[in-house]
Amino acid sequence: MKPAYSRIAGTGRCLPEKILTNADLEKMVNTTDEWICSRTGIERRHIVAENETNLDLCEKAACNAMQAADVAAKDIDLVIVGTTTPDQIFPNMGCLLQRRLGIHACTAFSLEAACTGFIYALDIADKFIRSGSAKCALIVGGETLSRMTDWTDRSTCVLFGDGAGAVVLQASDEAGVLSTHLHADGQYADLLYFPSGVSKGFDDMKSGKDFIRMSGNEVFKVAVTKLGEIVTETLQANNMTADKLDWLIPHQANLRIIEATARKLKLPMERVILTVRDHGNTSTASVPMALDVAVRDGRIQRGQTLLLEAFGAGFTWGAALIRY
Ligand code: ACO
Repeated sequence: MKPAYSRIAGTGRCLPEKILTNADLEKMVNTTDEWICSRTGIERRHIVAENETNLDLCEKAACNAMQAADVAAKDIDLVIVGTTTPDQIFPNMGCLLQRRLGIHACTAFSLEAACTGFIYALDIADKFIRSGSAKCALIVGGETLSRMTDWTDRSTCVLFGDGAGAVVLQASDEAGVLSTHLHADGQYADLLYFPSGVSKGFDDMKSGKDFIRMSGNEVFKVAVTKLGEIVTETLQANNMTADKLDWLIPHQANLRIIEATARKLKLPMERVILTVRDHGNTSTASVPMALDVAVRDGRIQRGQTLLLEAFGAGFTWGAALIRY
């Protein structure tokens, strides 16, 4: 019999040891702690060491989630890694992670939906589980955006950080993932992008010119609009009002964007999980890491209702309503 739900059995995260503060950035580019804090809410971010890669972060986050869920490698029958910064083009990050963890023969792939990657992965894993195609999925959002950041460009380098977050999702008859909602609109592709690729060519990268390009102000406006729409869509789909939410777990790109979404929901900031101050924007890792922070510090309790949302390059955006 097919299960009624997929349910979060455990969460985990991994942040690199090295911390880059706003004071450090003041020495690198023409910026100030005051500007970064007031425009973004970010005070520090974690950055991978030279010999450390995204796969290292994903492995540790995955191990922590599997331990929390009390599952072993043999129990996992689906691996999905959301990322825009894979260690290599192929094998995909799902397979590389399988090898690290000793998981054999199940479906494994990575997907690229920028900052919304984890929500996309959650949607797919939920569908695999509810269709009976998988019973126990490992979903990871991992990113090393520091490797594609121009550290001389003050308009972008103050924003990003590295990290990985993971979730084990299991088949359950108890309520878990209540609904997921995904959107994308490629007409906005030129507002936030990384210009190189295997097919198009990497020449600029060799000369050190290829980095994240972003029209920050325009991204900001579309993000506020689309996130406002998707949280409304998610609540309406569940016939629910925002006062029934226990926690909003937003993508951690910018405190002002998060505050705008909370205002739209008329949700006090005390019910919003915030990690942007300490993590910066870690793209697809941001939502699962924020979830893990609040699960482990005891704020998120079993039975509570969580609204997860994210917005990123593409543009892509998505949300999930979860009974934890
Ligand atoms: N320090 C000091 N001054 C700066 C800095 C800096 N680090 N960066 C920009 N400025 C200056 C600009 O040059 C500009 O100066 P000017 O007025 O003399 O021209 C001024 O500050 C204002 O710049 P804006 O870009 O208009 O600043 P804004 O208030 O829009 O904040 C920011 C910029 C933080 C980037 C904001 O637009 C933002 O957060 N955008 C959304 C980013 C985002 O959410 N991305 C989504 C996902 S990311 C992903 O998918 C990978």
